[in-house]
Amino acid sequence: MTEDKKPYVKPTIIKLQSGLMNKFGASPYYARKVRTDIDGISIDKLVEQFGSPLFVFSERQIRNTVREAKEAFTSRYPNVTFGWSYKTNYLDAINAIFHQEGSIAEVVSEMEYDKARRLGIQGKDIIFNGPHKSLQALKKAAEEGAKIHIDHFDEIDDLEKVADELGRDDIQVAIRLNLDAGIYPLWSRFGFNLESGQAMDAVRRIHMGGKLKLIGLHCHIGTFILEPDAYKTETEKLVGFAYQIEEALGIIIEYLDIGGGFPSKNKLKGTYLPPDVGVPPLDTYAEKATEGLYNALKPGDFPQLYLETGRALIEEAGYLITTVVASKRLPDGRKSYVLDAGVNLLFTATWYKYTIETDREVQGIGEPALLNGPLCMNIDVVDEGTLLPPLKRGTRLILSPVGAYNVTQWMQFIEYRPAVVLVAETGEAELIREQEDLSDILRRERLPERLRLA
Ligand SMILES: Cc1ncc(COP(=O)(O)O)c(C=O)c1O
Repeated sequence: MTEDKKPYVKPTIIKLQSGLMNKFGASPYYARKVRTDIDGISIDKLVEQFGSPLFVFSERQIRNTVREAKEAFTSRYPNVTFGWSYKTNYLDAINAIFHQEGSIAEVVSEMEYDKARRLGIQGKDIIFNGPHKSLQALKKAAEEGAKIHIDHFDEIDDLEKVADELGRDDIQVAIRLNLDAGIYPLWSRFGFNLESGQAMDAVRRIHMGGKLKLIGLHCHIGTFILEPDAYKTETEKLVGFAYQIEEALGIIIEYLDIGGGFPSKNKLKGTYLPPDVGVPPLDTYAEKATEGLYNALKPGDFPQLYLETGRALIEEAGYLITTVVASKRLPDGRKSYVLDAGVNLLFTATWYKYTIETDREVQGIGEPALLNGPLCMNIDVVDEGTLLPPLKRGTRLILSPVGAYNVTQWMQFIEYRPAVVLVAETGEAELIREQEDLSDILRRERLPERLRLA
């Protein structure tokens, strides 16, 4: 074969598609978007320096988003504090940015609690949520003055034990409520139900025990809530309940925590509208939540308001760079690309259709393709059906937005987890988590002497 003779490629018949049109024009599932850099650093340079796959976070994007969110609320209500929802993304560098921006920590486990403390966050600046808090964790949180949000009656018993152990009768607590804000299915697994009277029973139980002081009410109605009105209902109900408690028992509720749940500009599978059209702006959520407060609060009352926004503050700041390692034609005629990143790294691929960009212009007819990850598992599908031009091995794809919940829910399964990089506002790429190697896998393993191979 001479140098310039093209190799034989088996012909395939492909149905021509111009992209499934909708009323906004071409289908969003047509990937002809090119991204050559993230915040000014070229994709090539990032991969050359840190490898592929690679998670990349934009510091500028994080800071801009959290500032906008704060502005949306503080311009409408005087006492607002954001609690950074650790489980959304708890890398130290990410947490530190949120704390520098004035957020306290919102944690849902002892591990997250310890991580916040190690970073230098004081107990009083930690909201401790979650259905499982060990006695040891409760004791530590009580001693350190954390905001403990009780999830169930057994936890009231546990906290009273802690109070006895510490010889105290003044441990400040809040209770988590679940309530009908018009979002279904209800997140009724957590906290005490408001409408059934269970929440009032919990308040009476705490009051009668005489060891704990109820000072706050908390509620988290769900995640990726597309209905801003739900927050109006939520705040009205929380304020109404606070006054009911005051009237019945003389207890003054000092703070309300309305949880998280605002959506990001990600494309939820099964939704028709593109995110820019279908996802209401954060300002609308602030408008509705504060409208509910003002509807229900008595003049002059401004209880402290906490938010635990996670996803909406970090999603768009995160990218995953991945490399096409092979292309295949499946027996049913579909095109499949094998990537070096799969659902091991992208837990949220089940729910979201990410934006797919290539690191270079690619010519050729678009064809619906499967994007499969590196796992030797049939479930490893990152995307299905996006019209992609013919991608050569080595092409980099940039998937976004992937900043929320992936870098916490990723799995060390089959593959090492990759490096995570932060592009600083100054334009430098900083390593914030190293790529794993075999020592990470072996660190906790113990091989009994008798099983040691010769
Ligand atoms: C108690 C609590 N607070 C805050 C959050 C953060 O929610 P989101 O990321 O939807 O803002 C969650 C997430 O499920 C949660 O369970």
